[in-house]
Amino acid sequence: MQGIIEGKNDSEILDTVSSDTMEEWRNLIGEVMLDLLQKETNPDFYDAVKYQVQTGGKRLRPLLTMTFSDAAGGKLESTIYAAAGIELIHTHSLIIDDIIDRSILRRNQPTSWVKFGMPIAVLIAMKYREAIVLAAQKTEYPTKIQKVFSRAMQRMLIGERLDILLEQTGRNNEYLIKNRLQDATIDDYFTLCKNKTGALVSAACEAGVVCVNGNNEYVAAAKQFGMNAGIALQISDDYLDIFGNSQQFGKEHRKDIIEHKLGNFVILYALNQLSEPYKRRLLEILQTDKISEEEITEAGHIIQMTDAPKVAKYKVTKFVNLAKDSLKFFPDSHAKKTLFTLADTLLDRKH
Ligand code: IPE
Ligand code: IPE
Ligand code: MG
Ligand code: MG
Ligand code: MG
Repeated sequence: MQGIIEGKNDSEILDTVSSDTMEEWRNLIGEVMLDLLQKETNPDFYDAVKYQVQTGGKRLRPLLTMTFSDAAGGKLESTIYAAAGIELIHTHSLIIDDIIDRSILRRNQPTSWVKFGMPIAVLIAMKYREAIVLAAQKTEYPTKIQKVFSRAMQRMLIGERLDILLEQTGRNNEYLIKNRLQDATIDDYFTLCKNKTGALVSAACEAGVVCVNGNNEYVAAAKQFGMNAGIALQISDDYLDIFGNSQQFGKEHRKDIIEHKLGNFVILYALNQLSEPYKRRLLEILQTDKISEEEITEAGHIIQMTDAPKVAKYKVTKFVNLAKDSLKFFPDSHAKKTLFTLADTLLDRKH
């Protein structure tokens, strides 16, 4: 078999990982991502290209790919490129999402567009797109994996577009002004959330089973686990945006209020529950072009008066439990226990 990482011996890598902690998996996934990104990249550009990978992150999605592969009886060498490809899709989406959301901070570091400027950030994102194709090609079932990757990316862009359309102001573009959505229901939120985040987490789990040719029952169960875990991840992200500690979260505090978003579970749930005068006031703040510090605090207070924070926490627990339920098709194993543990990390996350 061709070496996983250029210049390194596979058996050395496999030995290191076989007994192993999640931290070693994370590092290996990072190395493989960098290796894929380096291919045909001008050395002058590589520093900028590798930046977002080097900022780290939880690497939850590729860990799910690896662990589902293990649960379905697979081996590391059949899975590592699928896992790296999944995290490259995620990283690609973060670079673009930070441009969309005008975010300046991610993982407590400047975002790619802040660090390198908008045009270079766009080119970096294009480079990731190529590395994702390469990752799929290097798996044992490239056509099937490419399909899994592609479906997730198509759904993510549907979700991101809906998220933009649910912003209440802040962009003077004629298309957006015309297509903006003023009302949103909790059902709309779930459509957004499943596409924006659920689809990729689901694809991460699916890819783990597909790349070791697991049976259809395992594929379906993995997809279901991923979709439910993805929903829990996004609802907890929405909660942390409003009520988390920005230092620990690594992102700007209440950025979803600043960006006028209805596509945040906590904001939308509060709006749907508030009595008329408070509802009007919260909407008025979200529709203000430049929201002041005082208004951000006021919006936080209004949201806090509702059941939204409590319901968000309840929903996270509910979707984590649904994810765990879908594991009943898998025989008991160390990998299955690890999947339970990974799902549980979503319950009380701080970052
Ligand atoms: C952030 O994803 C974007 C969402 C879909 C909520 P993560 O919370 O997995 O981000 P990192 O990779 O750990 O930084
Ligand atoms: C974005 O959701 C999810 C992606 C598809 C990247 P958010 O905009 O809430 O993610 P963060 O909070 O910036 O990580
Ligand atoms: Mg964002
Ligand atoms: Mg966003
Ligand atoms: Mg967020």
